[in-house]
Amino acid sequence: MSKTVVITGCSRGIGRALASHYISEGWNVIATARDVSKLAGLKAHQKLALDVTSEESIAAAAAAIGAATPVHLLINNAGIVEVGGIGTLTKKALMSQMDTNAIGPVLVTQALLGNLGVAAVPGAPAVIAHITSQMGSIQDNSSGNYYGYRGSKAALNAYSKSMAIDLKEKSIAVLLLHPGYVKTDMSPNGYISQQESVSGMAKTIAETLADGTLSKMGGFFNQVGATLPW
Ligand SMILES: NC(=O)c1ccc[n+]([C@@H]2O[C@H](COP(=O)([O-])OP(=O)(O)OC[C@H]3O[C@@H](n4cnc5c(N)ncnc54)[C@H](OP(=O)(O)O)[C@@H]3O)[C@@H](O)[C@H]2O)c1
Repeated sequence: MSKTVVITGCSRGIGRALASHYISEGWNVIATARDVSKLAGLKAHQKLALDVTSEESIAAAAAAIGAATPVHLLINNAGIVEVGGIGTLTKKALMSQMDTNAIGPVLVTQALLGNLGVAAVPGAPAVIAHITSQMGSIQDNSSGNYYGYRGSKAALNAYSKSMAIDLKEKSIAVLLLHPGYVKTDMSPNGYISQQESVSGMAKTIAETLADGTLSKMGGFFNQVGATLPW
């Protein structure tokens, strides 16, 4: 039986490339986007509207998926970035990045926890993969700026650590994945292609799905599976 993956932010970029990858691998892909019309052309099992900053939208998407549907993999990919350093910061920009990049993934996960629980069995975990960023690493920060983005991804990393510990008993593994510096609308000068990024992250995800010991649980990895500093 095909496994099911739910992916946020599939309208373009890494999210769309992730959806295409799992479709080509034979998964049931539940592709989501703020504007469902942007999912045209994607041969997904289900296409749903989902704005990760709206609790109503999250609840509606979870209801459309249905409480009994097993979800073997949830990829919280949707994200935004705004340049901003000390002297130019606004509460609005700081809050919107926190909302989309950190709070959204936590609330989407919470809404689909039952579905992940239906899929997870001891020895064959369900997986939550948060697409974070190396820019969320406090230790790795050598160039400053991007306060809102760095802070929101650091918060996502902190939330995920608790989530990993709390969900281990349910055989649900949590991964933090940095996709690399990828050529997308967010970073047009990225060094690597979306396909290269996705195939690397998919390898780490596949290893985690097959690892009943949850050895990667709570880990922070880049696109080639190397551990990143917190
Ligand atoms: N590209 C990189 O080099 C890089 C590096 C590190 C981490 N990342 C992370 O990778 C993820 C994907 O980035 P990307 O490069 O593919 O960026 P992108 O091309 O700008 O795509 C961002 C995606 O997120 C969606 N999104 C934004 N706000 C949303 C919301 N409130 N609800 C639902 N979807 C929302 C966008 O949908 P709309 O079309 O509706 O705007 C779009 O599908 C992000 O989390 C980003 O932080 C990227």
